[in-house]
Amino acid sequence: MFQICAETVQAPVRAHMWPGTVGSRTGSIGKGAPVQLSVTVNGREERADVEPRTLLVHLLRDELGLTGTNVGCDTSSCGACTVLLDGQSVKSCTVLAAQADGAAVTTIEGLAGQDGLHPVQAAFQACHGLQCGFCTPGMIMASVSLLAELPSPTEEQVRDGLEGNLCRCTGYHNIVRSVLAAADGSTAGGTA
Ligand code: FES
Ligand code: FES
Repeated sequence: MFQICAETVQAPVRAHMWPGTVGSRTGSIGKGAPVQLSVTVNGREERADVEPRTLLVHLLRDELGLTGTNVGCDTSSCGACTVLLDGQSVKSCTVLAAQADGAAVTTIEGLAGQDGLHPVQAAFQACHGLQCGFCTPGMIMASVSLLAELPSPTEEQVRDGLEGNLCRCTGYHNIVRSVLAAADGSTAGGTA
């Protein structure tokens, strides 16, 4: 059984880009000869021929069927598309698929282990860190990256670290509680 966080009050949080996000490097992109790429996604090697302009989020969703990565804005504003690229959180709507050639990508589908949910997933479940759930995959991936950099963050550091991820349900307080709970291990995984 997982523990339940005591607090359920919601509070707003500022929004700007997550510091670890790779910025848009689209340049003069457009149609062109297909790009052959090889990328390891959730531990599995994938090969694809994509247009040079194909974004990583569209490779994941449309070519690989990994629809847990959401598109909320397509303008690098919301963070719903956040995945890990070589361990660092990126907004996959700002990364060309070709830029992931040779890299390792982790999406929300690849986070849980054989023993159950990832501790951050378990914490979001236990602390009610979601409402409609649309932002949740991106929030969780950003939180995993944040905790990798700051294993014991303060509340302020969590709020700062997640500023690039927006929740239209405004459930920020429980999201922050979830990340703090994951950090202190009070809602450790295995709750699938
Ligand atoms: Fe990528 Fe909103 S869909 S930041
Ligand atoms: Fe609905 Fe965040 S839980 S958008």
